[in-house]
Amino acid sequence: MNAEPDRNPVAILGAGTMGAGIAQACLAAGHPVRLHDASEEATGRAEARIGTGLRRAAEKGRLGDRDPAKALAALRTSAGAGEAPLHDAVAEASVVIEAVPEDPGLKREVWTAIGAGARDGALLCSNTSSLSITELGEAGGRPGATCGLHFFNPVPVLPLVEVVRGERTHDATLDRAESFAVGLGKTPVRCLDRPGFLVNRLLIPYLNEAALLADEGTAEPEAIDRAMTLGANLPLGPLALADLVGLDVVLQVMETLHREFGDPRYRPAPVLRRMVRAGRLGRKSGEGFFSYGGDA
Ligand SMILES: NC(=O)c1ccc[n+]([C@@H]2O[C@H](COP(=O)([O-])OP(=O)(O)OC[C@H]3O[C@@H](n4cnc5c(N)ncnc54)[C@H](O)[C@@H]3O)[C@@H](O)[C@H]2O)c1
Repeated sequence: MNAEPDRNPVAILGAGTMGAGIAQACLAAGHPVRLHDASEEATGRAEARIGTGLRRAAEKGRLGDRDPAKALAALRTSAGAGEAPLHDAVAEASVVIEAVPEDPGLKREVWTAIGAGARDGALLCSNTSSLSITELGEAGGRPGATCGLHFFNPVPVLPLVEVVRGERTHDATLDRAESFAVGLGKTPVRCLDRPGFLVNRLLIPYLNEAALLADEGTAEPEAIDRAMTLGANLPLGPLALADLVGLDVVLQVMETLHREFGDPRYRPAPVLRRMVRAGRLGRKSGEGFFSYGGDA
């Protein structure tokens, strides 16, 4: 195991899919964690998920000599909407990681509260997939201390973290973010604040192109996926992967790339829009390019 981390907590805002996963990774690395959500139901669900995740990690020998119950005991949750609970959640933290939904207005509000509530010298990070780190840093009023720390789902399993430099992010902030990620057992990759960063910029247009191929009738979805698994030696075909990511997420990232770059090559495939409107979101709705035994 790595050296014992800082005793000040890591504050994580948003206890959904990503916030809970990030909290689990931080606890597994020995950090005390303050996990805050607007909803108490969300923190309850996250706590149960994290407990199960830590026990599983211990069974698989991935927790080193750490005891899962002790790791979980370093988790403190809080719930409440509005500024005051957010100030309280971040007040003691040496690292703040924002993982609230990808809604620009909400992110701006949360970042204003982070800027007002976090201590001087805290490392301020956002897990946003598509919003501008520069804008979030300005909203918080501490652009030099703000960077992107973009984890991948499921966080406890996937090793990559993109460390994103906003226009005014200090080098020291990026160095700290990188060491923090390494302390979690992750592999950081640095990039500039550009829409989609690295992975989504490459991956999502590829999934979009596969959706276009299917819609044009160039081949059946099964054939498109088989071609890529066998021809490019990929573990999963693009349409199965799009279903896994969520067709709504694929569409939303394409819309961001299209809007931000103003380049027609990022035009979202119309079939994605049709499917999302019809509630066919992929695995999570039971139906996407493939069927998953749901009632959709
Ligand atoms: N899901 C993914 O695969 C994925 C991968 C990488 C990055 N991201 C990014 O991570 C962020 C979170 O995504 P997610 O999938 O975990 O979302 P989610 O909807 O699962 O969770 C978000 C949580 O934030 C809470 N929340 C809402 N308003 C809040 C507030 N004011 N204060 C505190 N908590 C609040 C919600 O109650 C919810 O529990 C987004 O920016 C998303 O783009 C998601």
